[in-house]
Amino acid sequence: MIQLKDAVKSILPKPLVKTVQNLRYEASIRRLRGLDFHLNFPDRFILEDIIIPYFVNRSEFHKILFVGCEWYTKPYKKYFKNKEYWTIEIEPQKAKYGSKQHHITDALQNLSLHVAENYFDLIIFTGVFGHGINRKEDTEQAFAQCFQCLRAGGILVFGWDDKPEYKPFPVLEECENLKKFAPYFFPPLATANYIVKDCPFGHRFDFYIKPN
Ligand SMILES: C[S@@+](CC[C@H](N)C(=O)[O-])C[C@H]1O[C@@H](n2cnc3c(N)ncnc32)[C@H](O)[C@@H]1O
Repeated sequence: MIQLKDAVKSILPKPLVKTVQNLRYEASIRRLRGLDFHLNFPDRFILEDIIIPYFVNRSEFHKILFVGCEWYTKPYKKYFKNKEYWTIEIEPQKAKYGSKQHHITDALQNLSLHVAENYFDLIIFTGVFGHGINRKEDTEQAFAQCFQCLRAGGILVFGWDDKPEYKPFPVLEECENLKKFAPYFFPPLATANYIVKDCPFGHRFDFYIKPN
């Protein structure tokens, strides 16, 4: 039996149907938080309500780099307003979503061209592996740069989508430069390797420390 919705759809022009579908999808993935729109997926709650506040509340994490900027990372500068907050993003037009004072337009693989060795206390590298950093050599180079630019005892938070359709290759098993780090037990989640529950992309966060 044809439902009313399908009947209406069949008489409307196709571009209009597509536009309405896109708008509905866009609305479904957003949530308003204060005055800002945030992404409405389970991994964001872990990142925004657990991971970021933990580091924000600790004075030993002051120089912070967030990798990859999008409309939904624009409000993050507010979280880090009392820190030295850096962002790096390869696409120039996305600089507006990054840090006002310390934004780098470049690939993460070139990070050390912009900051000194051992500079950062914390690097949050989430949602970029499989979304731009895909090739093995780029991924190795990205981790090598994180290692070089983190201080000893600095933390790398690596967030990624652990589903065959989103992960370019078995990153934890195959990346030699990631193995230079040691696992970091992240107290609020009581693990070094957290798999987000009910996440459609299989997002997970792996926590690492640069050894002394
Ligand atoms: C899916 S988005 C979101 C990333 C964001 N960090 C988050 O919270 O999920 C991935 C972003 O990474 C950027 N990107 C891709 N390759 C990059 C690279 N090599 N270095 C820095 N940014 C990159 C893309 O342009 C895009 O804006």
